[in-house]
Amino acid sequence: MTPRTDRSFGVINRYRHLLPVTEATPVISLGEGSTPLIESRKLAALVGKGCRVCLKFEGANPTGSFKDRGMTVAVSVAAQRGATTLICASTGNTSAAAAAYAARAGMRCAVLLPAGKIALGKIAQAFVYGAKVIAIDDNFDACLDVVRELQKEPTIAVVNSINPDRLEGQKTAAFEVVDELGDAPAIHLLPVGNAGNIAAYWKGYQEYRKLNRASRSPRMVGFQAAGAAPIFFDQVVPSPETAASAIRIGNPASWGPAKAAVKDSEGAIDIVSDEEIFSAQRWLAANEGVFAEPASAASVAGFLKCADPARRCGSCPFAQLPEESNLVLTLTGHGLKDVAAVLDRCPAPLKAEANKEAVLQLLS
Ligand code: F0G
Repeated sequence: MTPRTDRSFGVINRYRHLLPVTEATPVISLGEGSTPLIESRKLAALVGKGCRVCLKFEGANPTGSFKDRGMTVAVSVAAQRGATTLICASTGNTSAAAAAYAARAGMRCAVLLPAGKIALGKIAQAFVYGAKVIAIDDNFDACLDVVRELQKEPTIAVVNSINPDRLEGQKTAAFEVVDELGDAPAIHLLPVGNAGNIAAYWKGYQEYRKLNRASRSPRMVGFQAAGAAPIFFDQVVPSPETAASAIRIGNPASWGPAKAAVKDSEGAIDIVSDEEIFSAQRWLAANEGVFAEPASAASVAGFLKCADPARRCGSCPFAQLPEESNLVLTLTGHGLKDVAAVLDRCPAPLKAEANKEAVLQLLS
């Protein structure tokens, strides 16, 4: 048999000594993690100072988002405990991951989704992986409230990030960044919705620092969509609105840990408009060949804002960026998850007769 690469290993086998698993835990994996860290010289040029900018492309995970890292741990632990049904509330990616890992484990899965607010690719995933799809006529926060009440049901495992095993799995992305760069970056930028991921990265960076695998911790900088920015405005948003549907959340479950991560790391939470998000998504695809979903592009929109002295806020960590810093942006999900959001903003295709001259004319 040919040797397995890190990629097919999955995050539990790669980092099992730092995860809440034992020899007795059945490993339910799809070979998640070990995602590409893609250097962007064009983003680096915008900050200068010899800095290096890398994109952690989580869209390369098996179900197309970072959720797979947490799901492999949560589902493996749930299987060990004898759970037979997984349940979650979701803006789409968690439900896709839960449904896939449930299928892999031979478990049942039910997903509660805000009706009419989920990207089509994610809905398709939930159906095709065999989950019971339940549309709730309310937003994500209301779906999560229902799921919280189901937490004590025997045989059911809640696999939202209120399940700590999820964040344990997600922290492995920080381990991978340090393993690849040789140390923690100076700044880590990522989108914030339910706020679990920023807390998970921070935990991962802290643990690696304690183990002397990293000599420092990054400043954590999170971006919320302007219409769904409870942490930035420091108040619950009862009716959050953004076309970046993955982060359309008004009352994040990990609000406290996210605030602590930002404070302890001397980072920041900022906002980006939908217009900035979609323009950053197009910029990234057209300039680097990386297609990330709208919520993921919030990191890039945020980077572009911070890189511009006229637009960044007073406490922006970019203002005192040391020379030759490493900066990492997490791109949380694949652009193919939500093609409707892109096509709505694309021009119609050019039309030509089926001959060489007609095509050449369009190229001139
Ligand atoms: N980016 C994407 C693509 C997401 O799907 C999510 C969250 C986030 C960013 C924000 O991460 O919640 O840890 O702050 N999606 C959840 C879901 C809410 O149900 O799929 P967070």
